[in-house]
Amino acid sequence: MKITVIGCGYLGATHAASMAELGHEVLGVEIDAAKRAALSEGRVPFFEPGLPELLSKHVESGRLRFTDSFEEAGAFADLHFVCVGTPQQAESMGADVSYVDAAVRTLAPHLRPGTHHVVGKSTVPVGTAARLAGELRDLAPEGVDAELVWNPEFLREGFAVKDTLEPDRLVVGVTSERAEQALRDFYAPITDAGCPLLVTDYATAELVKVSANAFLATKISFINAVGEVCEAAGGDIVDLADAIGLDARIGRKFLNAGIGFGGGCLPKDIRAFVHRAGELGVEDAMSFLRQVDDINQRQRVRVSKIATGMLGGSLTKTNIAVWGAAFKPDSDDVRDSPALSIAGKLHLRGANVTVYDPEATETARAVFPTLSYAGSALEAAQDADLVLHLTEWKEFREVDPAAVTEVVRRKQILDGRNLLDLDLWRSHGWTARGLGRR
Ligand code: UDX
Repeated sequence: MKITVIGCGYLGATHAASMAELGHEVLGVEIDAAKRAALSEGRVPFFEPGLPELLSKHVESGRLRFTDSFEEAGAFADLHFVCVGTPQQAESMGADVSYVDAAVRTLAPHLRPGTHHVVGKSTVPVGTAARLAGELRDLAPEGVDAELVWNPEFLREGFAVKDTLEPDRLVVGVTSERAEQALRDFYAPITDAGCPLLVTDYATAELVKVSANAFLATKISFINAVGEVCEAAGGDIVDLADAIGLDARIGRKFLNAGIGFGGGCLPKDIRAFVHRAGELGVEDAMSFLRQVDDINQRQRVRVSKIATGMLGGSLTKTNIAVWGAAFKPDSDDVRDSPALSIAGKLHLRGANVTVYDPEATETARAVFPTLSYAGSALEAAQDADLVLHLTEWKEFREVDPAAVTEVVRRKQILDGRNLLDLDLWRSHGWTARGLGRR
């Protein structure tokens, strides 16, 4: 089938390349000239494992190309996916849906006579799809029968291609059997492989996405809150998570205690959910998510307090090595990154902070140019009084404590992700601690 993908950032570029991989012919619409130029040459302007190979393969095969023309998009296909961002508004906790609105409003007048489906994939406040469905009908030219569909995306950074090609489920919010059939036909290569496709209304489809993210955020904050109690009581949060995680009703995933969640999705999505619930008059129902957010922010403060304590109560003239800047491994994304936020807090309180991240050094430098950046974990640790492990890249678990011992000033390490072998570090004479650990 022929499709367009409007907005070729993280979500759109992945969707476009993955749909080309499924055999569809894809036209990506990207108005940012630099991004469009990179994508047209088969280059991905961010770090995502597996995506560069897929993108260049299909740019070369001719199954995938990019444009900035909505006129061309309207003529190219009758199935259009809207994949633009919905960042947090500057003036409130709500989501800014102006890019979604603009995409639909700009495309609609260019649709050619016939039947069209415009499919929203962005994460939006509930009610957006119903509003846009009306606008789409009103703005489409005579002879165009255009229907809106909502089809939220659940991909994770670092696993974006796999999550798109082999999702746990597909969810489509529709208002007609015709739209349902169009999406069933389109996703047949995925559903034929066993992926369930759930059909529902717009509101439920929109809410599935935000509630999935809210649930994941709640799991993380729950375990972090209990971790603080473990620390006070002399318990161990990793043993505890293993034990409760064996209950199939709870599950072990997303119970890793540490410095908390960040990134472009979970933090903004829970805030937007609370905000939208308020607009709908049911703010109290979602107020617990404020606490989920507070517990999450608290981890960043806790870590900087623990670090300060390990350094004797003052950060002046101390050197701190920070391993990790990205909000999670296998990503160069530093949006709302707990690692970078902690590095920044410690720097502002007087420490000399040197950050190393395998992929996110440049994105981190752009956001926080006043920190020092190193080219390796060992270089960051040079003369350090404390090493902080804040993003769980595999290479940090493979660092040899003996080598780090040679370069530091004081042998102290704080594992903000509870993944290092603390006993191994201790066997090299280090003071090693985790969060919520015994
Ligand atoms: C998330 C959702 O998982 C995905 O389904 C949705 O489409 C977008 O938002 P992503 O932001 O890529 O994906 O990252 P995710 O893997 O969910 O991790 C989010 C944050 O939670 C990271 O900062 C991670 O370090 C943290 N996390 C995750 C924990 O602190 N503990 C855990 O146990 C799991």
